[in-house]
Amino acid sequence: MLKDPSTKYRAFPAVGLVDRQWPSRTIGAAPIWMSTDLRDGNQALFEPMNAERKLRLFHTLCEIGFKEIEVAFPSASKTDFDFVRELIDGRHIPDDVTIEVLTQAREHLIRRTIESLAGARRAIVHVYNATSRPFREHVFGMSKAEVIDMAVAAVRLIRELTAEHPETRWVLEYSPETFTATELDFALEVCDAVTAAWGATPDDKVILNLPTTVEVTTPNVYADQIEWMHRRLARRDSVILSIHPHNDRGTAVASAELALMAGAERVEGCLFGNGERTGNVDLVTLALNLYTQGISPSLDFSDINAVARTVEHCSRLPIHPRHPYVGDLVFTAFSGSHQDAIRKGLAVQPADGPWSVPYLPIDPADVGRSYDSVIRVNSQSGKGGIAFLLESEYGVVLPRRLQVEFSRAVQEHTDTHGGEMTAAEIWQLFARTYLEIDRPIRYLEHHLYEHGAAQGIRLKLEIGGRVHLLSGEGNGPIDATVHALRGIGLIVEVRSYEERSMAGRGSDASACAFLELASAGHAGECYGVGIDGNIVTASVRALINGVNRLPMVAIDDLDVQAA
Ligand code: KIV
Ligand code: ZN
Repeated sequence: MLKDPSTKYRAFPAVGLVDRQWPSRTIGAAPIWMSTDLRDGNQALFEPMNAERKLRLFHTLCEIGFKEIEVAFPSASKTDFDFVRELIDGRHIPDDVTIEVLTQAREHLIRRTIESLAGARRAIVHVYNATSRPFREHVFGMSKAEVIDMAVAAVRLIRELTAEHPETRWVLEYSPETFTATELDFALEVCDAVTAAWGATPDDKVILNLPTTVEVTTPNVYADQIEWMHRRLARRDSVILSIHPHNDRGTAVASAELALMAGAERVEGCLFGNGERTGNVDLVTLALNLYTQGISPSLDFSDINAVARTVEHCSRLPIHPRHPYVGDLVFTAFSGSHQDAIRKGLAVQPADGPWSVPYLPIDPADVGRSYDSVIRVNSQSGKGGIAFLLESEYGVVLPRRLQVEFSRAVQEHTDTHGGEMTAAEIWQLFARTYLEIDRPIRYLEHHLYEHGAAQGIRLKLEIGGRVHLLSGEGNGPIDATVHALRGIGLIVEVRSYEERSMAGRGSDASACAFLELASAGHAGECYGVGIDGNIVTASVRALINGVNRLPMVAIDDLDVQAA
């Protein structure tokens, strides 16, 4: 039993905005998006990203269409400082993208921050200090006036230091951290002091970012707070009103949406809701929520799986299988009645007509996905029965996305042949689909060699009845095989890799490798599976098996002369 909470916790006080306008507004256009994946998201990781992963994610954010990206907290670590330098010196920043960096409102940190940005074409300097009573009284031991002085002194110093670098177009962002727990009239006083100290004008707007540093109440109260500020801020035409919701109560998306109705113009968050504690607001969900209301989000999630795999690779965090729009299972129906309604809806859905398929709030194809129905294989196995039977009878634990992919083959089989499938029949179908596909390319053997730090592979394949020798180098056996295949014009990308042992199978104990492949010019991914006593051989076989399953692979397409 939970304890009686009434003495320990108190309801958050209402704002008392009687003439609030936001409940009758709708969102008519995409806000300015700011990705803080490389800052707030990064600082919340077990293992913060190294430069290679940060750069990869930065490029992905640019490709998605973000124009403002908070890339680092340069005064907090050398890695972050060096990363900002690498972006600028390495000319990685597209002309239409502005990088942003965070600093506390302290002199030596501000100096180091401005130093990190030397030579940037355009930069947002994001300065913050906490403003709520607990911080003033217990953390800083400062009066309200001293907290205002701290913010104003920081802004003046940033003005002075940035004036020494006129080659950069500077933008100031100020965050009263812990805004939602701050007395509103005091938050207003600090924000107005900041815009005055900067000398904000309509041509030199200040971004005022009002965060739910910790989400403490319902989204309607946040919306009231935002509307209250929006209607009272001095120099409103010289301010970009920004929000930065966290997700402690699980309502960050709702908070952001209501705050946009209440006058906010800009949203800071992370892809798939990464970030401190329960995360920052999920920008993908926000963007696709807009999309499903007929509003272009100005962000490209047409290949959402590619974005997801990059984010998982860079953050080393998995995305929940039921995460909105992207989870492995969100376009998968298990229930028979759902499957039936979806099939009937899809059958009559006009190609260009308004979307109205039951149970699917978005056309999966718009985000590069497909609809999958996962069938009940027999009365004992229930949901997920295919995976259950393969694991319990054959010791093969399928990755979840492969379960979904394979369920389509099972569905086709039962549609054609009718009835239920036994475990043996499912295994035979699995083997035919993933393991016994040696056309047009048949794996014969391989040899590994070292070349300096690189891993080399010599690969013997049979293609169209003739033996070919290919070689390639990479950062491991799989990468080397990918490079070797380029020799015959096969350009594939490995989106994910998993290996499992089929332990418990006695003397047949084997390694099983699962590779998810994508190929240029073809939407979606497909799996390759390899089984062998040796894990490297299993991986190479998985890659060749997967390549044989790609739609483009026909003998005539291969540049076998070159091999
Ligand atoms: O959550 C927060 O308040 C922050 C600020 C630095 C904007 O991340
Ligand atoms: Zn934050």
